[in-house]
Amino acid sequence: MSSEFQTARQRLEKLREEIHSHCHRYYILDQPIIADAEYDALFQELLDIEQHFPQLATDDSPSKRVGAPALAKFNQVEHHFPMLSLENAFSDEDTKNFEERLHRFLKDHSPINYVAEPKLDGLAVELVYEKGLFVLGSTRGDGRIGENITANLKTISSIPLRLITDMTPERLEVRGEVFMSLTGFQQLNYDRGEAGEPLFANPRNAAAGSLRQLDSRLTALRPLDFYAYGISDPSIVPSTGQMELFSFLGKLGFKINPLVRSCASIDEVADHYRHLLEIRPDLAYDIDGMVVKVDSFALQERLGNKARSPRWAIARKFPASQATTRLLGVDFQVGRTGAITPVALLEPVSIAGVTVSRATLHNEDEIKRKGIRTGDMVLVQRAGDVIPEIVQPIADLRTGREKPIHMPQHCPSCGHALIREAGEAAVRCVNPHCPAQRLRSLIHFAGKSGMDIEGLGKKAMEQLFSENLVQNIPDIYTLEAKQLQSLDGWAQKSAENAIRAIKTGKNVSLARFLAALGIRYVGEVTARLLEEHFLSLRQLAAASREELLNIEGIGEQMAQSIIDYFGDAQVQDMLQKLADLGLNPQKQTVVSAGLPLQNMVFIFTGGLTSLSRNEAKELVKKHGGQVSSSLSKKVTHMVCGEKPGGKLQKATEMGLTILSEEDFQQLIAK
Ligand code: IVH
Repeated sequence: MSSEFQTARQRLEKLREEIHSHCHRYYILDQPIIADAEYDALFQELLDIEQHFPQLATDDSPSKRVGAPALAKFNQVEHHFPMLSLENAFSDEDTKNFEERLHRFLKDHSPINYVAEPKLDGLAVELVYEKGLFVLGSTRGDGRIGENITANLKTISSIPLRLITDMTPERLEVRGEVFMSLTGFQQLNYDRGEAGEPLFANPRNAAAGSLRQLDSRLTALRPLDFYAYGISDPSIVPSTGQMELFSFLGKLGFKINPLVRSCASIDEVADHYRHLLEIRPDLAYDIDGMVVKVDSFALQERLGNKARSPRWAIARKFPASQATTRLLGVDFQVGRTGAITPVALLEPVSIAGVTVSRATLHNEDEIKRKGIRTGDMVLVQRAGDVIPEIVQPIADLRTGREKPIHMPQHCPSCGHALIREAGEAAVRCVNPHCPAQRLRSLIHFAGKSGMDIEGLGKKAMEQLFSENLVQNIPDIYTLEAKQLQSLDGWAQKSAENAIRAIKTGKNVSLARFLAALGIRYVGEVTARLLEEHFLSLRQLAAASREELLNIEGIGEQMAQSIIDYFGDAQVQDMLQKLADLGLNPQKQTVVSAGLPLQNMVFIFTGGLTSLSRNEAKELVKKHGGQVSSSLSKKVTHMVCGEKPGGKLQKATEMGLTILSEEDFQQLIAK
């Protein structure tokens, strides 16, 4: 044996050890001790040596994480112990009945300890470890026979290729759930959309599709994750119950869901259910309920199994967030910028306790991609506060009478011909006098992301518009209390309050006013950028293209849009009227130069690396800002650390300014 080979073998062994340990720290414990680049260097060194000496690449080599050449098909695997499913419970009463059944079956009414765990919405898999090495991974299949997806599972970083202690039984069969995080899912779908590939309906389907790849190199590119929740045969481990098993599995190197709870009674189980239901919108992944297990393995053994499910566990399901209903028709809504959004009119259906009768169809391309037709039965989804959307039509239920959906040729509001600019998904009405656009602009102007005038929400603005009291922005400032009072739904007090809010709102910052105007491409962030460079509206209106382009963060499109806007005679006329009415927004000079975060409300998500959460919160307060713990309307900025949860998506949709930890530090340094 050459000495080069010897040295390579020893170095490889060392590298494998090190990389496994860093992986465990990074993916399982979330406590890395080296930088990503340093890890990459170790990994690259390992790859280089293995390429040189392929015979040294062991089955548990971290290089197996990148996937192996494609298989012709998956082989079948017979599970030594069947993989059961769970019976469902839909109410507290169902869970109570579950406990009664346990008492009856055991002929014993002593209190029972339970473990309540989030029910991950992914795929159950079995991982077989022999002498501590991951040798075989399979899907649940029909419970008795599954498919061998070992190569695919090896690509999932949170699945240990080798267990970290030698206290493991000769053969250990670990079970758990493979899933995809919400952000991973959204990113994947975004990329697929860009590439013209069909979108996945939900994270579960995306995870399933990813695991079913015959080419594991493709699986390796998918953001999959794994939580362990059980073993096939509890009698072979030192643990006496489910809770102990979790800590045992954790010691072996598995990732355990931090939301598993030990419960001393069925009431505590119900409490945890409510807790999970409450935090569900903030979780980084989908859960569809909670699994309740009798903690003690001795009791589990006595209770045994029924044909397809154990007697000792039950799944307490969350109310469904998807439902099927019929697509009755499509309404075409004109947005503030003239973009036409197709909106599905649905036969009303209750989803997770809310009646849904409309859902967004996004745009023409989405309708085509999903192949939706009027008259289709469709799968509708409502996630958190997000606008409901149609996931897919149920093509199998078609009668042949369904009709293709066509985008209109003319604006449904003003009749102007619609155009679709190259590279744009939206069809647009470009008539600047279009009434629907005007109304939308007014709603935006007075609304939360605009001037935020109390009392002039969407409904009120629609009313004022249809009553002809407000047709353009200056009209708002000539309104009188008695005009409002004469309208349906208004009283003296609400009318006076609204007028007062309009008046005090005149004292607005330039940035807020700019954002309220709704100039295309000028949102809150750009508005603030502009405010930094211009002292008044007048100055901005007079700025040249070059001046605008000189500002970092202002690109061609924005500059052109700003020039076009202020160059428009009607806009000039409107701004003059507003100035005459006393609305002449100026740059807000920060009262104290030491308070860069004034008027800003922060929320934090994900892990921060340079500061603790509390330190970061203190910093915000010290610099004149506020901190919020929930994503309310008053939040203006989100600081996004590592592995942000679902809040990031929501914040993006709400149009908050999203900052990295670095951005945040810079902002304070200002
Ligand atoms: S225990 C016999 N625990 O739910 C025990 N299952 O309908 C069966 N699941 O196929 C599994 N999270 O895919 C268990 N914490 C958890 C779970 C969980 C999700 C899934 C699993 C299983 C299905 C049962």
